[in-house]
Parts: sequence; structure tokens; C-alpha cells
Amino acid sequence: MQNKTVLTGVKPTGTPHIGNLVGAIKPAIELGNKVLEAGGRHFMFVADYHAINAEKDPAVLNQKLKEIACIYLAFGLDPNKSVFYRQSDIPEIPEITTILFAYTPKGFMNKAHAYKAAVDKNRAAGKPDDDLINMGLYTYPTLMASDILAYDTDIVPVGKDQVQHVEIARDIAGMINAHYGKELLKLPEYSLTKNAVLVPGIDGRKMSKSYNNVIPIFADKAEIKKAVFAIKTDSRPLEEPKNPDEILVYEIYQAIAAPEKVQEMAEGLRQGKLGYGHIKNMLLDAVVEMTSEAKEKYEYYMAHEKEVNEMLDLGASKARPIATKTLERLKNAVFGR
Ligand code: ADP
Ligand code: TRP
Repeated sequence: MQNKTVLTGVKPTGTPHIGNLVGAIKPAIELGNKVLEAGGRHFMFVADYHAINAEKDPAVLNQKLKEIACIYLAFGLDPNKSVFYRQSDIPEIPEITTILFAYTPKGFMNKAHAYKAAVDKNRAAGKPDDDLINMGLYTYPTLMASDILAYDTDIVPVGKDQVQHVEIARDIAGMINAHYGKELLKLPEYSLTKNAVLVPGIDGRKMSKSYNNVIPIFADKAEIKKAVFAIKTDSRPLEEPKNPDEILVYEIYQAIAAPEKVQEMAEGLRQGKLGYGHIKNMLLDAVVEMTSEAKEKYEYYMAHEKEVNEMLDLGASKARPIATKTLERLKNAVFGR
């Protein structure tokens, strides 16, 4: 991590849930802080250009952007240390993208999984392959390559679904460097978010906004309670010893509670001392404990939009000069200036 540049982008879609928090948001902030301590650079941005491919309502976009920015701030992203910005505030990004297009084989886009998934969905519905697929979705990985390459990024922490995109960025950079015979662009690497626990949802499938099975992060306690008490259980009596590994409430608890608390729940279940009501209350307490401090901050930031915008503006003012340098380097090479 010494002197490395780490960059993460997050799309402002959906309302984040406990799975996103444990699997993506917290690890990203922790990694960022580690990189900064080791003398490196940390870039964190909201990918609003990527979001407009799917979301066309400005009010929704604006609200989601605000929510996601406030969540990262609430969980400890320091905008004075990390470079925290909106993608759309960096006009050099689409400019770099235009240059990258000239070196991006169309076949890369054909194979990109977000596009392929959209085509498969159309086929399954008996519609034409490209029905309702816009060029933004089709060329998504090239814009993402530009996000990454603009800042000489070394490492892009990603979930499995984004690995292909980082590889495409690396390939495009490699082709451009090979063409001009010099390292115009730094070759990025991905790092798979290690030990990221996959949090199950209240129905036992992966917690996901698409399954409507989430525990929300900042809802009021009654709403969180409703989600927690809806977690699937069976009708075995309290006294019957149970194997914790077969109990969904315990699985979710494991992902968020302190190890000694997890141990306590496991023993209580094995010894028939804890029933489903008890363990659901324990889980509810753990969710509230994990989020209550951040919730206050979140509400503060949500009510102080101007302050948040100033933080994002500050980030853009730090990001732009770096992206500008990359763009200049590329233009000089491409146009022989
Ligand atoms: P969703 O499945 O709700 O649509 P996304 O696909 O937008 O979530 O994921 C955003 C980030 O959160 C990704 O990095 C992903 O790996 C992480 N994530 C999503 N769901 C979970 C989960 N249930 N457990 C752990 N991490 C998750
Ligand atoms: N495609 C990413 C996602 O859907 C978001 C993103 C856009 C991104 N540009 C990026 C992630 C650059 C890492 C680096 O989650």
C-alpha cells in the first residue's frame, strides 16, 4: 500500500442496506484510511455519469447521490484526506473516454457482462437483442476505464462483478502504451475485496435490493425491527438445542456483531437457552449499535446539503488537475503536439 493510488467508484442507485455496508462501504473506507496512513492516495467518487444510463429522473438521481455521499461521510470517509468527488464534475473524464474509444475494440464491449446480461434478459423476454439498451450501457467499461486511468491508479478494490471492467481498463491502457512505445497510462490492478462476508437477506437469499429482502441501514428502529422480525425461522421451541449454523438470524448476526457476542448467541442456541425472539432482539440491537453513531452524522449531513456539496467540490478541485495532466499527456501523444 506504500505510496499507492487506490480508487473506488460507487453508483448512486438504490438505498444501501446492511449487506452493502458490511460488504462494500465499510471495507472501502477502511482500505482508504489504510492507504492514506501508508502515504498513498485515495480517490472515492460517485459515478453519476454511469447512473444516468438507467435513471433518467434528475430528482431521483440527485437524492441518491446525496444519500450515498452522506453515507460515506457518516461512516468515516474524511473528505480532507480522501479525494471525494462527483464523476460529473470532472469534464476531463468524458474527454479521456473519447480518446480511449479510438483504442477500444468493439468486441470488448460486446463481451462486457452488464451488456451481455441486458441482451440475455431481452432474449428471454422474446424481445430484440438491443431493445432499450443505450450506448451508455454498451460503452460502460470504457467510461470506467477513464475513471481509473485518469489518476494513475494502482489498485481498484472491487467485488467480483467489476473484475472484468478493471481488466478492460488495463488492456486498453496496455494497447495505448504499446502503440506509442511509452507508459502514457499506468496499468491498474484490481484487488478483490478480501474476506468480504456475504450477508444473507431476511429470506435466506443474498441480501440484495433486487430481492426486497434487506435490512435498511438508516431506517427508524420500528422499520428495522419489522425487517429483523420477518427473518425466516421455524417453530422449534426455545429449549430445543439448535445448531447455530442452520439459523438465518445467527448467520446475519455473525456478519455484523462483535465475536464475543456471536459466541454468546451460538452457545445460547446450542444449550437451548435462547429462543428466536431473543436472538432477533439481539440482532436488532446489533444493527442499531452498528449504525446509531453514523445515523446521527448521516442525518446531520442530509440536512446540510451545502456543506456536503462543498466537500464534493473540494474533491473535484483536487481530482481535476490530475485528470488534466493525464488528458494532456494523451492529447500530446495522439495529436503529435
Ligand atoms: P444489490 O445486490 O443490493 O443490488 P449491489 O450489487 O449494488 O447490491 O452491490 C453494491 C456493493 O455491495 C458491491 O460491492 C457488493 O459486493 C456489495 N454487496 C451487495 N450485497 C451484499 C451482501 N448481501 N453481502 C455483502 N456485500 C454485498
Ligand atoms: N461500475 C462500478 C459499479 O457498478 C462503479 C464504477 C464506475 C467504478 N467507475 C468506476 C468502480 C471506477 C471502480 C472504479 O459498482
